[in-house]
Amino acid sequence: MGASLPAFVRRPEILWSALAVAIAAAVVTVFLVVPGNSADAQVYRDPEAPIAERVEDLVGRMTIEEKVGQMTQAVVGAVDAYPGDITDLGIGSLLSGGSDALHDTPEAWAEMIDGYQRDALDTRLGIPLVYGIDAVHGNTALPGAVVFPHNIGLGAAHDPELAGRAAAITAEETRVAGVHWNFAPCVCVARDSRWGRTYESYGEDPGLAVEYAPSVVQGYQGDDLTANTSVLATAKHYVGDGGTEYGTSTTEDYLLDQGVVTLTEAELRSIHLAPFRTAVDAGVGSVMVSFSSVDLGYGPLKTHGDEYLISGVLKGELGFDGFVVSDWQGVDQISEDYAESVRTAINAGIDMVMVPFEYRTFISTLLAEVEAGRVSESRIDDAVSRILTQKFALGLFEQPYADTSGAADVGSDEHRAVAREAAAASQVLLRNEDDLLPLAGDESIYVAGSGADSLGRQLGGWSGSWQGSVEAVNEGTSILAGLEQVAPGAAITYSEDASEPIGDADVGIVVVAEDPYAEGLGDAGAGEHDMLVSDEDAAAIEAVCGEIDCVVIVVSGRPIEIEPHLDDVDALVAAWLPGSEGAGVADPLFGETPYDGRLPVSWPRLVDDEPLNVGDDGYDPLYPLGYGLQT
Ligand code: BGC
Ligand code: BGC
Repeated sequence: MGASLPAFVRRPEILWSALAVAIAAAVVTVFLVVPGNSADAQVYRDPEAPIAERVEDLVGRMTIEEKVGQMTQAVVGAVDAYPGDITDLGIGSLLSGGSDALHDTPEAWAEMIDGYQRDALDTRLGIPLVYGIDAVHGNTALPGAVVFPHNIGLGAAHDPELAGRAAAITAEETRVAGVHWNFAPCVCVARDSRWGRTYESYGEDPGLAVEYAPSVVQGYQGDDLTANTSVLATAKHYVGDGGTEYGTSTTEDYLLDQGVVTLTEAELRSIHLAPFRTAVDAGVGSVMVSFSSVDLGYGPLKTHGDEYLISGVLKGELGFDGFVVSDWQGVDQISEDYAESVRTAINAGIDMVMVPFEYRTFISTLLAEVEAGRVSESRIDDAVSRILTQKFALGLFEQPYADTSGAADVGSDEHRAVAREAAAASQVLLRNEDDLLPLAGDESIYVAGSGADSLGRQLGGWSGSWQGSVEAVNEGTSILAGLEQVAPGAAITYSEDASEPIGDADVGIVVVAEDPYAEGLGDAGAGEHDMLVSDEDAAAIEAVCGEIDCVVIVVSGRPIEIEPHLDDVDALVAAWLPGSEGAGVADPLFGETPYDGRLPVSWPRLVDDEPLNVGDDGYDPLYPLGYGLQT
């Protein structure tokens, strides 16, 4: 009987040795066939291993193509045209541009981003992608999200702690939608209010950005980047973006934005570099390079190609160990020759390139540069290591997909209360004859002006779209609705152009406003935005203030030329771009909170007085830096 059984039943050791041979063969095959793959456990997949070891292990397994893929950031619309590319090219990052407000709910955003993430995980090594957006004053790409005052208003509040709380809420309302990375804060120091990005700055005094940067970075990143309430922060734009000289821009019709900063190195360091130092010390995960050029006396050099400033100063001297991202097509501006642009940018120290359209060309160009030996593999390894370090820190290898469990908190009353508090704290009272303010709340009030009932104007640029729009897409309360809410006992008549009869109103409130704009399209003189009171608003001031006691509230991203209109004005308030909570503008008007804000920029008499900064020879502003009456 026994003799008819198969050999391995009679002698089980045959089976074991056959198995052992098979296993050994498999191990050898894996070892030989998969590049960089050793028979040991995959350290990079081990959540218990230190991040540095995981990074080293992973980089050791990557091909040059996979590395260059990690350094590539594409805009969603561009990859949508080639659905296989995220997987085939191993693209490391995607972004939504300022106008890519694609979905109405956190769940719909998350579903889209999770879809791209699946494609990224479908690669040989399964490296997750990192998704970025400009949630510069709230996640405005999500209509129901709360919108905070733009930075200039937060600077007026002189309260970095409050700005940090606002940032933490923005982080929560951003990560819940599947987005991991925020292109904020701008730690720019606006030295000429004609700059279209003045409102993205905390003010002309570098001390403000120096103080705000750590608090806001901490607000975005939290104590733990893996948390569903944290996003990777970006200090931008490195360096000198707010110091460009009028007329030096060569981009389209821009005048200041993307232009040239001409300073001594000592000035550049004390004014524009200082906030990056505190942002780096606070652990900011990424830094975005500025479109502008710096001229330290040797001719202008595009910052995107400036090895001294990026590798020498930022990474070397300041010890920045996060990654450096270029700005939107910013690399292209270095040279007419694209290969030269790419080579110069990467060699200067840029780690990830916001291409964001022609990413296939970027990838093939960088690969050819490496092949030719003009970009070293060690530079590539450094770039990729920095990017992967932040991906591990974000916990993306363990939790690549969105966690929308906090979706119900988006735009909650609690979050809106903080935005209202920030709006109220940012109001600056510039004139208050006969203590007209605060109002009692039981008056008969006549309200006029283009900013009174315009959520879009009080949100400004970077709100639902790149340039923002008069017709807001975000949810919120206009200033008029805020007045009605805070003073239910007041009898309010509203007429935007002041054409309704003023009758026996006790007091007028004229809310003048700039229309929304962003970047160089908002440079004063470049287009429609000239820092002047519009004819309609000027007529409203005249009609109302010529008749009755009146308050003028200025809704703007920067000082405007108001002096010629002040003759009959009793009280004047700078409201900046207060965001979605118009009640915050009404609070101090009716004494619910004090007026406590102070000017974060000098207020010129005339637009032509710019650039105007405290300490300038012959400094003669309408209101100086730091001015603000208290109630
Ligand atoms: C801006 C950046 C922004 C990027 C992505 C650029 O035009 O300068 O501040 O983060 O676009 O939208
Ligand atoms: C994008 C912005 C970007 C800008 C730069 C816009 O189309 O939406 O994100 O900053 O272009 O020119």
